[in-house]
Amino acid sequence: MPPSNRASWLMTKQAPANVVDSAPYTSPSMDEIVIKTKAIALNPADVIVQKRGILLKEYPAILGCDVSGEVVEIHPSLADVYAIGDRVTGAARCMERKDGKFCYSAFQEYVVLKLPYIAKIPKDVAYEDAAVLPLGINTAASCLFMDETLGLKAPSMGITEDTQSKTLLVWGASSSVGSCGVQMATQAGYKVVGVASKRNHDMVRSLGASMCFDQGDPTLIDNAVAYLSDKEVVGAFDAINSDLALNSICEILDRSGGKKLVASVVPGAEEKATKGVKIVTNFVASDMARNELGKAIWQWLEKAMEESRIKYMPQSEVVGEGLEHVQDAIDLLAKGVSARKLIVLI
Ligand SMILES: NC(=O)c1ccc[n+]([C@@H]2O[C@H](COP(=O)([O-])OP(=O)(O)OC[C@H]3O[C@@H](n4cnc5c(N)ncnc54)[C@H](OP(=O)(O)O)[C@@H]3O)[C@@H](O)[C@H]2O)c1
Repeated sequence: MPPSNRASWLMTKQAPANVVDSAPYTSPSMDEIVIKTKAIALNPADVIVQKRGILLKEYPAILGCDVSGEVVEIHPSLADVYAIGDRVTGAARCMERKDGKFCYSAFQEYVVLKLPYIAKIPKDVAYEDAAVLPLGINTAASCLFMDETLGLKAPSMGITEDTQSKTLLVWGASSSVGSCGVQMATQAGYKVVGVASKRNHDMVRSLGASMCFDQGDPTLIDNAVAYLSDKEVVGAFDAINSDLALNSICEILDRSGGKKLVASVVPGAEEKATKGVKIVTNFVASDMARNELGKAIWQWLEKAMEESRIKYMPQSEVVGEGLEHVQDAIDLLAKGVSARKLIVLI
């Protein structure tokens, strides 16, 4: 008898509030496990899909991209890798379905996770802390390390002399995807120059950035150009949705020596390129799950967690306990956060 499952459902396009109701339990297929959810992290996409009614065509639907929990069922293909009771975090694939079911979405009590996007959590790390990482790691990795984007060397390849002499600009370095980008780029050996609000500079430096500029400083562009003048710049990672930021990045790269390429998280950012600088987005990149990079990054992540080399940032902030709090968390995130990842415990 499969366990009974419940989910936070988005019943119709732009429904004002999610509804908690029963949901099917789905057993794992090849390369899959099922977890009992312990913590869910919220992402801007959860807000955007509900409020703007984009991306989804079928309703009712279940959203959610970041989840941690305890393994309850394992496909025989992974019997040597996972055991019942293992604590894991994973990237939930909420835009995918199995037999029409939203079994891969995070906002439910039982979630199907698929390789390569699963990492075991060390004993001393809380579920809610581990849940801050998955989507941030995937988004940053696809912007930084894919051939179609910045094509940098991934941390899984180890630090080389080549990476140590190069500098990356990360705009939005205190955001979730930005802070994962700062950590992965610095752990691959690159020097990182971040841009964030002054109140978050200590956090950005603690992630490995060697320099941080204040996004609100009117002299930021001149200061960044001066700082980068004697550095080999390998491009920029735009980890925030702001036209002003894209304009400023293009100006900085235009006036600095080095690569005039920006990898952005913003759909359609290509059209916003100025000054002969090229902008690409991770939406053009091939699916990391289907190439070696996804596997390498998630194996690296599990090891980095095990060896305490990764910080669980932005810091988790628990909004409530129970699926009933998913809507509260979506509404709170819609108002904006600063260096925080909102969490619902289950
Ligand atoms: N393409 C993809 O696959 C993909 C995947 C995930 C997310 N995204 C997008 O990526 C963006 C970031 O997502 P997230 O989850 O990382 O967001 P988030 O953590 O919720 O972003 C909040 C942070 O953004 C920073 N910020 C806001 N405006 C800024 C600006 N003008 N300059 C610098 N920093 C700024 C704030 O920094 P301060 O408090 O320091 O000001 C705050 O810490 C969103 O637009 C999201 O939709 C895209």
